[in-house]
Amino acid sequence: MAPIIEVTHLVKEFGSVRAVDDLSFRVEEGTITGLLGPNGAGKTTTIQMLLDLITPTSGTIRILGKEYRSAREYILANLNFSSPYVSLPGNLKVHENLLTFGRLYGVLNLREQIDRLADFFEIREFMKKLTYNLSTGQLTRLNLTKALLNNPKLLLLDEPTASLDPDIADRTRQLLKRIQKERGVTILYTSHNMEEVEEICDKVIFIQRGRLKDEGTPEELVKKYGREDLNDVFLHIARNQTV
Ligand SMILES: Nc1ncnc2c1ncn2[C@@H]1O[C@H](COP(=O)(O)OP(=O)(O)O)[C@@H](O)[C@H]1O
Ligand SMILES: [Mg+2]
Repeated sequence: MAPIIEVTHLVKEFGSVRAVDDLSFRVEEGTITGLLGPNGAGKTTTIQMLLDLITPTSGTIRILGKEYRSAREYILANLNFSSPYVSLPGNLKVHENLLTFGRLYGVLNLREQIDRLADFFEIREFMKKLTYNLSTGQLTRLNLTKALLNNPKLLLLDEPTASLDPDIADRTRQLLKRIQKERGVTILYTSHNMEEVEEICDKVIFIQRGRLKDEGTPEELVKKYGREDLNDVFLHIARNQTV
């Protein structure tokens, strides 16, 4: 089966900074993949290129077997994302944002869908608030609600659980596992919580200074580096020790 994401020799330069440096990887359909690496490794830059929010300096991105330059609408209709760096319009109320977004995507049974997700992420209590008045945790929950509204085939999530309280973070993990299992959704996401990554990821991709350092299942990497757990593997790779 063709991979749902195929990145080949991807490079992004910001002036003299090479944020992503000859990065190649694949994400197979139906998997949850963790994109890991220390601060500044290039995770957010990679996700933003996968969303076509910033243009690669060079290299190729294929999503669902297609490229943005010839199939932008098709790709964007089949994916969704949540990112702390891309926000919904702040001057709209939360429910207005969800309705607008849902209509834009032609979501069927929109009100039911919003109700269901609103209960799940407990956003009902601030539905009438202006979006720019939300706390970070509330914004994250709104972004996750928005990200699931159009039943995407592919979800790109940049640190989705970082600002959530432990209870909502745990329920978010269970929800991600559930939509993977029940709807075959493919998820690529970043996190610094290695315990969480070990719990939900089928595969992890480690990057550092924009380059691929290693990839595999959490178990494979723990075994390969002879470590206790994925957190130890992370420290080992990030500190640039040899195997
Ligand atoms: N818009 C930008 N302009 C200049 N440098 C940037 C920009 N965005 C990211 N960078 C730099 O690119 C590198 C990778 O950043 P980022 O992708 O945010 O890393 P991560 O998400 O892994 O923490 C960092 O050195 C960062 O300072
Ligand atoms: Mg980041």
